[in-house]
Amino acid sequence: MAVEIWNVDYAEAAITRARATAGRRKLRHVVADLRALPEETFREKSFDVVVDKGTMDALFCAGPSSVQRFTAELRRVLRPGGMVLLMSGVATGEEILEIFRNWTTVLDGSPYITEEGEASINLRSRLFVFLRPRDDDDTGRQRHPASEP
Ligand SMILES: C[S@@+](CC[C@H](N)C(=O)[O-])C[C@H]1O[C@@H](n2cnc3c(N)ncnc32)[C@H](O)[C@@H]1O
Repeated sequence: MAVEIWNVDYAEAAITRARATAGRRKLRHVVADLRALPEETFREKSFDVVVDKGTMDALFCAGPSSVQRFTAELRRVLRPGGMVLLMSGVATGEEILEIFRNWTTVLDGSPYITEEGEASINLRSRLFVFLRPRDDDDTGRQRHPASEP
């Protein structure tokens, strides 16, 4: 099965650097605003997986409207049941879960803090995984069986 990987950032400098470091890996590099992707290039329900490290954090700092527009675009371009893997170090776990409240949570990377104040440090911490809901499914937060501890 052929796998196509797209790399998106709205900063030309970020894409130029990514191109230089990608080596022989075949990525499709695109300069675009993730809050308003060009519809003719980023077709509805055309992606299986989106991986984000740090972009949601940047948009979170930009404000709620940016976050809302980004998640609307994620929902538009992902096929139903498609997956978002999100690494976030700025928004709290509660905030991330609230942003994806209508999606199915596969992995909740909220840092775990004990009553004694010790924080968990493990590979799951800060990694969140969500599945896009079906178009007719806005029933609110659901947990995937794999998310149970
Ligand atoms: C914290 S950096 C993370 C970069 C990269 N993912 C990494 O892990 O090294 C955040 C990136 O989000 C990009 N960004 C911020 N707002 C964006 C938007 N609306 N559309 C596309 N990219 C955006 C910035 O240009 C920046 O490269």
